[in-house]
Amino acid sequence: MSISQIAKSIKTSPTLALNEKFAILKSKGDPVIHLGGGEPKSKAPMDAILAASAHLNTGEIRYAPADGIPALKQAIIRYTEEHYNRKVAPENVMASSGAKQALMCALHTILNPQEEVIFPAPYWVSYPEMVKLCGGIPVAAHPEDGSFYPRIQDIEQRVGSYTKAVIINSPNNPTGAMYSEEFIADVVDFCEKKDIYLIMDDIYHRLIFDGRKPVNCYDYANDFSENSKLIVINGVSKLYAMTGFRIGWAVGSKRIINAMANIQGHQTSGPSILLQKAAVGALNGLQSCISNLNVTLENNRNVLLAHLNSFEGVKTTMPDGTFYTFADFSAYEKDSTKLSNMLIDKVQVLTVPGVEFGLEGYLRLSFCGGIKDITQGIERIKWALDLNSPNELYIGDRKLVRDWV
Ligand SMILES: Cc1ncc(COP(=O)(O)O)c(C=O)c1O
Repeated sequence: MSISQIAKSIKTSPTLALNEKFAILKSKGDPVIHLGGGEPKSKAPMDAILAASAHLNTGEIRYAPADGIPALKQAIIRYTEEHYNRKVAPENVMASSGAKQALMCALHTILNPQEEVIFPAPYWVSYPEMVKLCGGIPVAAHPEDGSFYPRIQDIEQRVGSYTKAVIINSPNNPTGAMYSEEFIADVVDFCEKKDIYLIMDDIYHRLIFDGRKPVNCYDYANDFSENSKLIVINGVSKLYAMTGFRIGWAVGSKRIINAMANIQGHQTSGPSILLQKAAVGALNGLQSCISNLNVTLENNRNVLLAHLNSFEGVKTTMPDGTFYTFADFSAYEKDSTKLSNMLIDKVQVLTVPGVEFGLEGYLRLSFCGGIKDITQGIERIKWALDLNSPNELYIGDRKLVRDWV
C-alpha cells in the first residue's frame, strides 16, 4: 500500500502520543505522573457549559457558517477590541476547530510549494509538520546568543527569496519565554517592510506572570489596509481550560480570512455549532477564571523551578508565561529522547524530549497539573538521575531500587 510523500514526511505529534501513553499506563493502575501535558487542569467555565447545554437541549444541532456563527464572531471582535485595542469587522474573523486549524488554514492560504516559513527555535512541535503539510519548507531560527529570546537579526539571517511567512509564538511553547516588546516591534516592522506574512500565535498571550502585560503586535503595525499580511491566531483552549472544545480563531485582512474560510468550508464545514456556543459563553461570561488560572500557574511555576534548581547540573530559565519550562538536562544525558524514555521506564514520569522542539539535551516539563504531581514528579526524576540520592525510593507501597547508575 502506498501513501503520499507528504504523509510519509509527517512525524507523529509527540505530545499527543505522550497523552495516549499516559492514558494507557493510568488505565493499568500504574502510578504515572504526567509532566508532559499541555492543558490546564481546571474545569471549563460554567458559562461555557450552560451555553452549550442550552443549545444541545433544543435538539436542533445543524450546520453553521463555515467561518463561524455571528455570535462567536461578535465575541471575538469584542475580545480583539478589549485586548488588542483594535476594531475589526466580522469579515476579518474566522472561527475554527482550535488554534491549530486556524494556523493550518492560514498556511494553506498563503503557501505555494517550496516556500519557506521561519519561526524561532525552540518551537512548538507542530509548526514544522504543519508547514510541510501545506507543501512548504520549515526554517527554524535558533537565537545566535543561545538564549530563548530571539533578536530580529536571528530572523533576518534566514530570510531568502523563498521566504513567505514568519510565525511568532510568545509566550513560547516550550520555553515559557515572553519575547520583548522591542523584538515584537522589530518583527512587525521587518515583515511589513519585506512584505512577508506574519502569523502571531497568541494562544498563551494572557498566561503571563510577575505582573507582565501582554505585548500587542498591532501597536507596532503601520499597515492596517486590506494589504496587511498580519494574521493573529488565538483561542479558548488554554486561557479558558477548554482544550477539548476545539475552538480557536484567526483575525486578518478580509481577503485572507475569506480564502481561509473557503478552505475550512471544504475541510470541515467549520467548527461544531455546539462548541462555538460554548466559546461564546466563555468569552462573554465571567472572566475571573483567567486570573485564577494565572495565580495557580504562577505558584506552580515557582514550586517547579525551586525543585528543579535543587538539581546539580540542570540549567533552568524562569518561564515568563505559559505552563512549560524547558530545562537543560545535558549534564545528565545529551540524548533527550533516551532520557525521556528512561524516566518513563524507571520512575513513570512523562516529559517531552527537547529534540522535538528543535533543541537536544533539554526536557519540556509542564506545570499545568497539581502541586503534588509537580513535587513528586521532580523528586522521582532527581532520584533517577542524582547519584547522591538514596538508593531506594518508594512510590506508594512499591519499592524502587536504583540499579542503573
Ligand atoms: C503554540 C501553540 N499554538 C497552538 C496550539 C493549539 O491550540 P488549540 O488547542 O486551540 O488547537 C498549541 C497547543 O498546544 C500551542 O502550544
